[in-house]
This record gives sequence, C-alpha cells and structure tokens, in this order.
Amino acid sequence: MALALLVAIVLPLAAFLPPKYVVALPVNVLVPLYINPEAGGWDRLVDSAIKHSSTNFTVILNPSNGPGSTAWPSGTYIAEIKKLNKLPNVATIGYIDVDDGQRANANVLKEIETYAGWNNSQIALSGIFFDHTPSLEWGDIVNGTAQEYLRNISATVKTLGGFDERRTVVFNPGKIPNANLSMSGVADITVVFEGAYNEMPAMEDVKGELSALQQTREGLAYWVHSVPGSAGRHGVRKVVDRTRRNFEWLFLSNRWGEDKYEGYGDGWEEFLDLTW
Ligand SMILES: *[C@@H]1O[C@H](CO)[C@@H](O)[C@H](O)[C@H]1NC(C)=O
Ligand SMILES: *[C@@H]1O[C@H](CO)[C@@H](O)[C@H](O)[C@H]1NC(C)=O
Ligand SMILES: *[C@@H]1O[C@H](CO)[C@@H](O)[C@H](O)[C@H]1NC(C)=O
Ligand SMILES: *[C@@H]1O[C@H](CO)[C@@H](O)[C@H](O)[C@H]1NC(C)=O
Ligand SMILES: *[C@@H]1O[C@H](CO)[C@@H](O)[C@H](O)[C@H]1NC(C)=O
Repeated sequence: MALALLVAIVLPLAAFLPPKYVVALPVNVLVPLYINPEAGGWDRLVDSAIKHSSTNFTVILNPSNGPGSTAWPSGTYIAEIKKLNKLPNVATIGYIDVDDGQRANANVLKEIETYAGWNNSQIALSGIFFDHTPSLEWGDIVNGTAQEYLRNISATVKTLGGFDERRTVVFNPGKIPNANLSMSGVADITVVFEGAYNEMPAMEDVKGELSALQQTREGLAYWVHSVPGSAGRHGVRKVVDRTRRNFEWLFLSNRWGEDKYEGYGDGWEEFLDLTW
C-alpha cells in the first residue's frame, strides 16, 4: 500500500523534475577549435569550460591545417593555449590530416614531432587528433594495410617524448569504421559520425555495426553540424538524448560549410547547457 502510494507519487514527479536531478551518463565535449585565437577568439570556449567545470573538454588545435611550417605557433596562440591548459577539465590536442591513409607515415611523423616540440614553449599537448583516418580494412593505403598504418601513427604518439602523460589518440573516420580497425589501445576515442543534423542515421540502423566495434561509450565520439535554426532547443536536446547512451564525446554546431569549425555557432552555450 505504502509502496504503491510512493510509486504513484514518485513516478509522475520524475516526469516534471528538471533533468539535473535525474542521474544520466556523463557527456564530454570533443571540440574542433579551428578558430583563430587573435582578438579573444577563444574566450567563449574558456568561459564555457570554466562554467561547465565537471564536463571534460578535449580541444583540437589546428593552426594551419596541421601545426604549420614553424616550430611553434604564434605568440597569441601560445598564450591562449596556456590559458586552456591551466583548466583542469581541458586537454589540448593537435590536428593532423592523414587523408584516408594517403599521407606518408614520414610526413605524419614530422607533424606529430612538431606538436610534441611545443613542450619547449611550455605548452605541452595531450595528444593528437588524426582527421580522415581510413574506415575500410582493405582501403588504398600509402604503405602497408590500414591496420598497420593506424598502429604506426598511434604508436608514434604513445612513445614520442613531449606530450603530457595522457597521450590521447583520436581517430576521425567520420563514420563507423570496419570493425577490424577498432583496435583497443590504438585509438582512445573514435569519431563514428561526423555529419549534418539531417543526415544523422537512426540509432536502430547502426546498432549492429556499432556493437561489432566492441567499444565502450568512453571511446566513441559523435559530431553533428548544420543543426538548423528551426530545430530549436528541442532539436538540440533530441540529439543529446539520442546519442548520450552510446557516445560519451559529443559536439554540436549549427554552422555549416567549409569553415564550419572556424566559429562557435549560435547554439554553443545552449548545447553545453543541455549536456549537464
Ligand atoms: C573528466 O576527466 C577526469 C580525469 O580524467 C575524470 O576523473 C572524470 O571522471 C571525467 N569526467 C567526466 C564527466 O567524464
Ligand atoms: C613502408 O614500406 C616500407 C618499404 O616497403 C617498409 O619497410 C615499412 O615497414 C613500411 N611501413 C609501414 C608503416 O607499413
Ligand atoms: C612508422 O612508420 C615509419 C615509416 O615506415 C617508421 O619510420 C617508424 O619507425 C614507424 N613508427 C612506429 C612507432 O612504428
Ligand atoms: C620536451 O620533451 C622532450 C622529449 O621528451 C624533452 O627532452 C624536453 O626536455 C622537453 N622540454 C621541456 C621544456 O619540458
Ligand atoms: C575482420 O577480419 C577477420 C579475419 O581476417 C574477418 O574474418 C572478418 O570478416 C573481418 N571483419 C570485418 C567486419 O570485415
């Protein structure tokens, strides 16, 4: 009798409680910060990371479609990285495009070394984000197989001096890769969707491929761009609710086009508020 009453009271109440009183899986943010840090360009990120201090931000730095041709980035870049690295919930990693495995290991190695060398400007990074990693087991790779290629670039980050102890390796095939390319211990995080809001597959449709990866949600990221204004707060909430069960690392933006990651988009703060 008492239990029935309790259930009758508690259940309807749960439906009205603000979400923050309901225990949910944590969401962290994998941010493509391809934004110029000049003129306070990174302030919004710094403010957000301070405000959301229990959310982890892994931030991808990309001075010049890679580290650029100089040993160190500009003075502003260095100063702003120092600000980010001071925040306990922020990790900074460097961007490298591997062009579906078409870029020679030696060239990739050179860029990894450049990022690692930033430690000599007191801005040690926490690892590397490899963009456009191969998603097919038997794809056309510059040298060797896709597995060997991925193992090689990951092992370089894991063994080279200069990074902090996290040595985070992120792969971005932009879609669910062949299950044989999901090698535990090789990538810490894999981006299994990078695409427009309107192209998000139904979770039902990718369930099989996802479980074949045998990755826990801590190792999976999901990137949604081109969220239309018409989706509104409801649309943003829908994405977060739909994805948080399977993916720990999210990023949402209403920007689109070539330079979509070179700005925050209007919905940035709203998105973060919904990740609570
Ligand atoms: C954030 O990272 C710290 C350190 O790795 C970890 O202890 C904490 O659980 C993480 N928080 C979330 C929400 O995942
Ligand atoms: C690349 O090819 C060379 C020559 O065939 C070989 O010695 C080397 O092991 C290969 N490296 C990788 C990472 O596959
Ligand atoms: C990666 O491949 C390059 C080129 O084949 C080689 O020189 C380097 O030693 C390899 N690195 C690791 C960590 O396997
Ligand atoms: C940067 O890393 C290299 C390689 O581990 C190390 O020799 C060097 O002392 C580090 N520099 C600083 C300033 O920590
Ligand atoms: C992975 O490799 C094994 C052994 O080569 C093969 O039998 C299997 O079909 C591959 N899995 C996928 C999803 O391609």
